[in-house]
Amino acid sequence: MKILITGARGQVGTELVNQADHQVFDYGSKELDISDLDQLKVAVQHVNPHVIINAAAYTAVDKAETDQQLAYAVNSLGSKNLAQICKENNIPLLHISTDYIYDGEKKSPYNENDTPNPIGVYGASKLEGDEYIAQIWHKHIILRVSWVFGVHGNNFVKTMLRLAEQRDELSIVDDQFGAPTSAQAIAKVLLDIIETKQFNQPDFAWGLYNLQSDPGVSWFEFAREIFKQAQALGMIDKPMKLNAIPSSDFPTPVKRPANSKLDGNKLQQNFNISNADWQEDLQSMLIFINKQ
Ligand SMILES: NC(=O)c1ccc[n+]([C@@H]2O[C@H](COP(=O)([O-])OP(=O)(O)OC[C@H]3O[C@@H](n4cnc5c(N)ncnc54)[C@H](OP(=O)(O)O)[C@@H]3O)[C@@H](O)[C@H]2O)c1
Repeated sequence: MKILITGARGQVGTELVNQADHQVFDYGSKELDISDLDQLKVAVQHVNPHVIINAAAYTAVDKAETDQQLAYAVNSLGSKNLAQICKENNIPLLHISTDYIYDGEKKSPYNENDTPNPIGVYGASKLEGDEYIAQIWHKHIILRVSWVFGVHGNNFVKTMLRLAEQRDELSIVDDQFGAPTSAQAIAKVLLDIIETKQFNQPDFAWGLYNLQSDPGVSWFEFAREIFKQAQALGMIDKPMKLNAIPSSDFPTPVKRPANSKLDGNKLQQNFNISNADWQEDLQSMLIFINKQ
């Protein structure tokens, strides 16, 4: 299968390129800007792909508040362009979305029937992109994921490891709950969907899916696990003192949802895809980094 991947140098994009056992045409942002319909047309004409996976996004949650135009250009217009071009060429589109389209008020995990209500520009721009795709082109999978980490790119795990070199004590927010999800697991789910027997058959279960990763934690609990594993692997020599603090003690330009745990039942029922296990994936990531 010929797969065209956009945003191919990001956390998930890189994993997709590494894992795909197909003919891959990978485009970073410098080679293909998804907000430019003409560039997309040229690439699609050149590759003539069987499927497009969009891993491109504007992902700077705080910066998006003051950089609205660019956030919407990438996350909303970019998604719209992709849906249009996929429709014109009858190409299935797999797209990644975010837990930040929810407001976090729900006490239990979010499923696909819950109403989105983003509390920041990033979430709002992503939601608009999701809505364009759903309206324009039925042959889509939108996979909503949360708290992405991995070997490639910047993320919370790497920040914690960097801080471990500089500090003995850290204060981490303990009242925002969700689930870390590895870029590796996200890439695998997308590729598993493409590889199902029914893929692109008339009865294929297109649509919106939430990817659940277990166990659900707060950022504080996530940090505690990172340091526990890093210490067990000998990556840090001294214990890190961690203080649990409320979000009000760590003000950010935009509020985060208090709960953004996702419910993966639909993914399990329709594709027999299990929930991700982030603790196991964290260990693989740390082992990989430790060897470098
Ligand atoms: N990161 C998270 O915690 C998180 C959480 C939930 C959902 N998600 C979603 O998961 C998906 C993958 O995220 P990620 O963590 O892999 O993000 P990432 O590491 O920031 O990668 C996104 C990639 O998109 C590229 N990009 C930006 N603007 C573009 C454009 N106009 N055209 C083409 N490419 C462009 C970026 O390139 P440059 O670096 O050159 O700009 C970057 O390589 C996104 O849809 C994101 O919204 C992420």
